[in-house]
Amino acid sequence: MERIVEIEKFETEELSETNLRPDAWNEYVGQEQIKKNLGVFIEASKKRGEALDHVLFYGPPGLGKTTLALIIANEMGSSIKVTAAPMIEKSGDLAAIMTNLDEGDILFIDEIHRLSPAVEEILYSAMEDFRLDIIIGSGPAAQTVKIDLPRFTLIGATTRAGMLSNPLRDRFGMSFRMNFYGPQELALIVQQASEKLSKEIVHEAALEIAKRSRGTPRIALRLLRRVRDFSDVANEEQILLERTRFALEQLGINTYGFDEMDIRLLEYLMQAKGRPMGLSTIAAALSEDEGTVEDVLEPYLLANGYLERTARGRVATQKSYEVLKFKAPTQKHSLFEE
Ligand SMILES: Nc1ncnc2c1ncn2[C@@H]1O[C@H](COP(=O)(O)OP(=O)(O)OP(=O)(O)O)[C@@H](O)[C@H]1O
Ligand SMILES: [Mg+2]
Repeated sequence: MERIVEIEKFETEELSETNLRPDAWNEYVGQEQIKKNLGVFIEASKKRGEALDHVLFYGPPGLGKTTLALIIANEMGSSIKVTAAPMIEKSGDLAAIMTNLDEGDILFIDEIHRLSPAVEEILYSAMEDFRLDIIIGSGPAAQTVKIDLPRFTLIGATTRAGMLSNPLRDRFGMSFRMNFYGPQELALIVQQASEKLSKEIVHEAALEIAKRSRGTPRIALRLLRRVRDFSDVANEEQILLERTRFALEQLGINTYGFDEMDIRLLEYLMQAKGRPMGLSTIAAALSEDEGTVEDVLEPYLLANGYLERTARGRVATQKSYEVLKFKAPTQKHSLFEE
């Protein structure tokens, strides 16, 4: 039971983000293909009066996975229970959550790649047959208790799709990969949010923030709040381009939207002078685990042509050398010609 309290705590921690969160399709910018497909599936299941099939969202942090889950609940007119895998330690925790679900409810499990194998096992039959098989006791006295569950929808989210086991992945009726946002999309998100904050922002300023946000709405919104502070202190009624540039400079936000980890990774590769580096070597050098480097750090750099993956390892591209003003290796490594 105390787990339920923890679910609420989890929600309040995210409160500062929550008030800028779109709750309807028309405010959710971009990810057009996902919206289109989901719209069809939602409409179909509503027509049939059935719960929506289980949904998986995966992709780098801050791209709108949780937001989409909340919008789905809204569209379905279902109530949603929000939790995260690290809070479900034992199978009993999962049982407590699941037996509290009503017909058509949505259960959102964040960081779903972090479920323990024992909990995951129980989830299989819950997802497939809407039944919990729980073993009570141990040894010869152990008993399996079967509990029927209402038809619910599980929405899972993960930044680490590679870490999901195949059996779990296969039990989602649909899975969607989130994409990075373009500058115009992010500018629109910034503009919408500034309306909610009752502080107008001129388009050029919104675009300036957008360009430095690593393709990520969460970063754009964070920068917006900080830029608004500068604007408020300067007693300006609107957020202007000049002030925005000044603020971003003061905050040390570089023009390309890299964060500190991006820069460390690229610099490490550039110091290797074009020699390809393996994932494990890079992870060790950055004191990160391989999965984080591969699933969280690299996608943005790959998508924007700052990094290349080859059979022999990772290399920084010419574009990286240019924007980070690093001297390109003098004796061109063969990789640049490949
Ligand atoms: N498409 C979008 N349109 C408007 N706002 C968005 C969009 N996507 C995300 N946001 C905003 O960005 C913030 C982060 O989004 P969200 O929390 O849904 O990301 P996430 O993918 O769940 O991240 P994490 O992997 O860290 O859990 C939210 O405040 C949300 O309002
Ligand atoms: Mg989330």
